[in-house]
Amino acid sequence: RTLDGGGRHLLPGLIDSHVHFRTPGLTHKEDWAHASRAAVAGGITTVVDMPNTVPPLRTGEEAHRKAELVDGTSLVDYRFHLGVAGEDPSPLREVGAREATSVKVFLAGHHTAPHVVRDPVQLEKVFRTAAEAGLRLLLHAEDDGVFSLLDEWRGAPSGYAEYERHRPRSGAIVAVARVLELVRRHGTSVHVLHASTAEEADLLTAGAHAGLPVTFEVTPHHLSFTAEDTSRVGARTRLSPAIRYRPDQDRLWQAVLAHEVATLGSDHAPHTRAEKLRAPADAPPGLPGVQEMFPAVHTGLRRRAPMDSPDAQLSCLVRLLAEHPAELFGLDERKGRLRPGLDADFVLFDADERWMLEPDAIRSKCGWSAYEGWTMTGRVRQTFRRGVSVYRLDELGHDVEFGTPDGRWLDARRPADVEPR
Ligand code: NCD
Ligand code: ZN
Ligand code: ZN
Repeated sequence: RTLDGGGRHLLPGLIDSHVHFRTPGLTHKEDWAHASRAAVAGGITTVVDMPNTVPPLRTGEEAHRKAELVDGTSLVDYRFHLGVAGEDPSPLREVGAREATSVKVFLAGHHTAPHVVRDPVQLEKVFRTAAEAGLRLLLHAEDDGVFSLLDEWRGAPSGYAEYERHRPRSGAIVAVARVLELVRRHGTSVHVLHASTAEEADLLTAGAHAGLPVTFEVTPHHLSFTAEDTSRVGARTRLSPAIRYRPDQDRLWQAVLAHEVATLGSDHAPHTRAEKLRAPADAPPGLPGVQEMFPAVHTGLRRRAPMDSPDAQLSCLVRLLAEHPAELFGLDERKGRLRPGLDADFVLFDADERWMLEPDAIRSKCGWSAYEGWTMTGRVRQTFRRGVSVYRLDELGHDVEFGTPDGRWLDARRPADVEPR
């Protein structure tokens, strides 16, 4: 069959290597059916899901059982990051087993991240074990010791804006400096998630230049919002690490344009409206983004690099959202693994279309978006997975197709990926 793309760009299916699809245990916030529809509407055909579920994901066997749970409801391909916490670094030995690609370590805790490695001795052990096993660690690098010092000094936060100041920049910067020191000592490869400050970008770039095996991710949220938006939009843009100030945002964009950033990850972390409307200190951090990431960052790129051709802008995004994540998480080469783009996952993208994100277009189960009312430049018109159209917009901009043409969900794993039971 031939496809008439109507002069639009044809891109490889994109990979979001940082999502929280909330299965199992948190499906009142999000579920796989909704989240994977949001994903294909945003041009994403593969996700790597985070382990902070209830219960948390710790072993290759659990990852396999989770895949069985998700199977038949997913429009996208998927793999999982395992979690490591407390005394037990055993998840590190499970990476590469079945659906587990990697391990995420939280250096600080918050509402939705209760499993933390705080003990310095334990942390050393995790870095050493990972280095010995040749594994890359994914890090949530914040320091709640710094947070509580500042809390004691300034007293309990009262309003929302004040609460944001209690998730200070210094907590993230201190944690990244510590990570670099551990990398220097043990030679562990690390990928730092959701870098949020100018100093983190400086430190990580300097570390990489000095030959340390470090890479980092930025999220669409830190590229799209600043602290000024936060005081306007309120707790909806509250996430961990927090949205920072304009100079931080400028530095993160510079890092994108200078190829210092390795991946974009949406940190798609939905919470219900009611949860987000709680008192500031009780509103959980996190916001949806798997549907918004690609068009939102494309919109920003048009503004930040107006002299680049549309092709150059899209090449930049394809590097950050397909090539690099495929490389980092072994999605393209390890035997029996996913091969994004190689099995006819692709996206038809209109780079010039201007459109507004309306509330009724939001596919996440949480039903809200911090990007509501945004005018975006560039729109996903159609998404194919394994050569089958799983998402399409009609000329008026309405979803006309979700799922397979015969109305069934595609099995998200290829039979060859599944070990015999
Ligand atoms: C994430 C969540 O809610 O799961 N929240 C967030 O603010 N980023 C957890 C995380 O990625 O740390
Ligand atoms: Zn995190
Ligand atoms: Zn996250």
